Amino acid sequence: MLGAGEIVGRFLDAKLQVHPDVVSYLREKNDPALMDRIISSVPQGTLVVNPAHIPGTSPAKDGERFLPEPDLEIIAGKSGTSPEKNRFEDFFPYFRDRYTRLSEILRSRLNPVPIEALVRSTRYRQEECMIIGMVLDVRTTAKGHRLVDLEDPTGQISVLFNRGRPGFADAERLLPDEVIGTRGKLSQDGRLLFAEQLVRPDVPLTHAPFTSNRPGKAVLISDIHAGSSTFLREAWDRFTDWLPSSGAGYLLICGDLVDGIGIYPNQEEELTIRDIYEQYRMLAELMAAVPKEMAIVISPGNHDVVRPSEPQVAIPEEFRKGFTPNCHFVENPALLSLQGVRVLMYHGRSIDDMIGLIPMASYSRPEEMMVEMLERRHLAPVYGRRTPLSPEPRDRLLIDPVPEILHTGHVHTSGITRYRGVLGVNAGCWQGQTRFQKQVNITPTPGRAVVVDLQTLEPEVLSFGNTSQTA
Ligand SMILES: [Fe+2]
Ligand SMILES: [Fe+2]
Repeated sequence: MLGAGEIVGRFLDAKLQVHPDVVSYLREKNDPALMDRIISSVPQGTLVVNPAHIPGTSPAKDGERFLPEPDLEIIAGKSGTSPEKNRFEDFFPYFRDRYTRLSEILRSRLNPVPIEALVRSTRYRQEECMIIGMVLDVRTTAKGHRLVDLEDPTGQISVLFNRGRPGFADAERLLPDEVIGTRGKLSQDGRLLFAEQLVRPDVPLTHAPFTSNRPGKAVLISDIHAGSSTFLREAWDRFTDWLPSSGAGYLLICGDLVDGIGIYPNQEEELTIRDIYEQYRMLAELMAAVPKEMAIVISPGNHDVVRPSEPQVAIPEEFRKGFTPNCHFVENPALLSLQGVRVLMYHGRSIDDMIGLIPMASYSRPEEMMVEMLERRHLAPVYGRRTPLSPEPRDRLLIDPVPEILHTGHVHTSGITRYRGVLGVNAGCWQGQTRFQKQVNITPTPGRAVVVDLQTLEPEVLSFGNTSQTA
């Protein structure tokens, strides 16, 4: 019988990698001539020989065997959920909804007093009490303490996190507009709370992620930037050559599908396609190289043609011409179920705001910002900086329910984390370093895809950026 090492070696001699199922097939057949026939018949440019390359086997049949029927449900963020133009101008109901729902989560651990009662009544003076509020303003005092103005529907109060007291480290990462709980002692005049603890809504410690009861894999990527002169065509081709052998039934693409037009000054100098319709046509071609059996989920980012304010609507019909029927267009954010495993897709514009405000945060470690989102149970806590928000009456950027996987993009650097059972994935991008990124010192990690096993939630990072690292 042919040995596995012998088979792999023979393929390697022909500069080919070989799928384990092909190895078992050849061992079973024990026919060296068949092996040579396979090697000589694979199309040029193939990197991994998969069962579809075995002559005489029907690709459809193998497709079924290696790509089980996808089971995809879009729980939130279906195309058409949000209006194309901002319909709402009043931010009051938006922030009220954010406060109400996040304070509900916090109430399982805190028993808060309404702020108005604290300030007005004398009975709480110098007593220990708890409040839940939204951060109106946060600053560092001359002595290095953190001073926060917190607001609830009844009133507002200042809260002092003393350097060296419990809660200070958490207070260093406070962001405007996040909803927190705090416990502390009220001052004599009732105007200041000396905090001893900061509580965030967070993922429950008891969170037990769901796993699929049947085999299935999802491939997570983002930031293709079709139309850009720095789009990495060869890496993409290597990726789509490999996909049939991946055993994955799902491909999730988390925004910045095309490079867009007029996104930053002098962008046209870095575009190979200067027509937005043509950019999406190129994307359709890139998608056509993905196996038809895979369900592709496509959500937009800040370079795409839709409104920038979040939730961003799905790519409109007029740009969907030429896409194969396995492409599903969703909003940003969107919550999916893949065989029951929930994936929250969010492009990640808010990471810019968080990196600017959180000490020690870095573009090279996007996974830390995913943890910051999960702790706050919110994808974009900060309003009024770089992340435009649409004030719909329900805050769709809340993280509720807690998903099994949080998938982001935008920063073009890869990072993976596991926080209280939630897997956070930022795969990177398919674009080389742009002039802008060079200026701001961002080194992208292009050509990477993350494969997640839906039965174990284990991620695997694959690099297609250069041949030696492939697969
Ligand atoms: Fe991007
Ligand atoms: Fe982006």
